Amino acid sequence: MLRIADVWKSYGNLQVLKKISFEVAEREVKVIFGPSGSGKSTLLRCINMLSPPDKGKVYLCGQNLMAPEINLNEMRARIGMVFQHFNLFVHLKAIDNVSIGLRRGKGLPKEEARAKALKTLARVKMEDWADHYPAQLSGGQQQRVGIARALSMDPDVILFDEPTSALDPELIGEVLQVMLDIAKTGTTMVVVTHEMGFANAVASEMIFLDRGIIVECGTPQHFFTSPKSERVKRFLKQIDILYGRHEELLKLPNEEGSK
Ligand SMILES: Nc1ncnc2c1ncn2[C@@H]1O[C@H](COP(=O)(O)OP(=O)(O)OP(=O)(O)O)[C@@H](O)[C@H]1O
Ligand SMILES: [Mg+2]
Repeated sequence: MLRIADVWKSYGNLQVLKKISFEVAEREVKVIFGPSGSGKSTLLRCINMLSPPDKGKVYLCGQNLMAPEINLNEMRARIGMVFQHFNLFVHLKAIDNVSIGLRRGKGLPKEEARAKALKTLARVKMEDWADHYPAQLSGGQQQRVGIARALSMDPDVILFDEPTSALDPELIGEVLQVMLDIAKTGTTMVVVTHEMGFANAVASEMIFLDRGIIVECGTPQHFFTSPKSERVKRFLKQIDILYGRHEELLKLPNEEGSK
């Protein structure tokens, strides 16, 4: 579905990504994690060409997104993005935040776009909030609208950039639950997150990024039981996974509080 091949990216003298390669199969959930500044957001922006790589290739369904003949707007509509800070239009109601992409990006007529937006809001349990503005919604609700916006376009893959890290702890569960639900319906996802319970539940592979390099990759089981690199061990210890709150963090969010 998605193939990243030898991607390099720098900002001025700062080499942010080095030799990044991995593949994401259809219906796969890939989790990317690593320290602040390691290049996680940059990698997502290279995938959707918001900041194209300096070197290397990104293929979506076999098509090279760097090829000069590619229609980038069309391609971007096939790559959903969910942001840390939601990035909703503040002057638009929840339903319009979702339907605007369907009208502008997919050219759906108004009523059809509204109907589809409402259906997608129902998938994230937000249909009762369709006529609310972002300011009238909690952070968790806003993020669920952000997820509905991405989902509504039927993208080939959805990229999530730390979707729960700006949320108060009590709101994280409802967003993770929605993400688990859509993962289980077979959505292809690349998720930057440090939510190890989520990773453990649905990631087929996790990638540890540090200083722009893929230091280690493997299954959640691998990382939680026998990580190899000292850097990974240190990092996991820092985020309390390997020791301390391990059990607690691996608990899945439950259905409660998902609305
Ligand atoms: N537009 C830019 N111009 C210059 N430097 C940038 C730009 N975007 C990112 N950087 C730098 O690239 C490095 C990687 O940044 P990036 O945002 O990808 O890290 P990150 O892993 O997402 O970090 P965080 O966990 O804090 O979100 C950082 O040193 C950052 O300062
Ligand atoms: Mg980031």
